[in-house]
Amino acid sequence: MPDLNKYIDLIKSGDIVAFPTETVYGLGADAWNPAAIKKIFELKGRPADNPLIVHISDKNQLNDFVAQIPDSAQKLMDAFWPGPLTLVFKKKPAVLDLITGGLNTVALRIPDHSLAIELISNTGPLVAPSANKSGHPSPTKAAHVLSDFGADFPVIDGGATEIGLESTVLDLTAKVPAILRPGKIGVQEIGNVLGIEIEAGSSQTEKTEIPKSPGQKYSHYKPKAEVYYGDISNFEKNTLYLVQRERIESSKNVINYSGDLELLSQELYDRFRQTDIKGFKAVSIESIEDYCYQYPSLYDALLNRIEKATGK
Ligand code: TXA
Ligand code: MG
Repeated sequence: MPDLNKYIDLIKSGDIVAFPTETVYGLGADAWNPAAIKKIFELKGRPADNPLIVHISDKNQLNDFVAQIPDSAQKLMDAFWPGPLTLVFKKKPAVLDLITGGLNTVALRIPDHSLAIELISNTGPLVAPSANKSGHPSPTKAAHVLSDFGADFPVIDGGATEIGLESTVLDLTAKVPAILRPGKIGVQEIGNVLGIEIEAGSSQTEKTEIPKSPGQKYSHYKPKAEVYYGDISNFEKNTLYLVQRERIESSKNVINYSGDLELLSQELYDRFRQTDIKGFKAVSIESIEDYCYQYPSLYDALLNRIEKATGK
């Protein structure tokens, strides 16, 4: 286990530290320090109207950010926190506008990672976007963070992240809770806990004029290589293939996931980065539709990320 003292001191002195969560690495700054939060936007090249998620280590910290905690939130927190579910609440006036991009809501979650929890328990709540430059794939390894921000950047190395895709973002301020960004916890799991049908709103929000979740309007997760999705019939040398069944062509540029969507989620962003590092001109992902019943939530989440990467 890495010694966190130096990282805790950095955060307390208004600096930024990258840390692992169960989803992807985050770029952490003190949620009450405007200068530190500004540094995050500058470092990432992130538009100011794209709000940040506040990461807490304890439910009690919610009260400093959230005006009123609905019953539905209590149920969801009991069921899924710590874990990859971000909840959007009506915010308290004291929450910095820098965090919310001027919205009257604030997004929070408790990450399910011992290093993240130890860090936040010592620093207090941290805002933490994914620790990548805007437009790059989210980092799932410490090396990805260093590749975006330089070899000297302070990053707490927790190895490869377990889930590999960002948390589900659920808006609790609408009449019916709506998923703004799909993740490992999906409509079924959330609907079961709440006893109602919830809305899987990710693609709709992208097209509305004032997006509920501003992050959805920006192109994300795109490697330099072209990304293709669908059936694969012929294989070329300078393309990386992520396939679902064994092929005679199997070689270094053909990786078979056998429909294991958990593994594909874990590795997708690393594969995107590898395509660029290794100089492939494209990455071609074979359809995962056959596995949508086995992994309904990951299927939605993967498809959302893949479609963004294909530029659809
Ligand atoms: O898994 C994750 O959520 C990772 C790890 C580090 O926790 N964090 C992450 O942060 O993905 P970021 O900043 O890359 O994405 C945050 C998303 C954006 O799409 C943003 O628009 C949305 O959450 N969001 C943040 N605050 C919001 C709010 N008040 N209302 C609606 N959407 C919000
Ligand atoms: Mg991000």
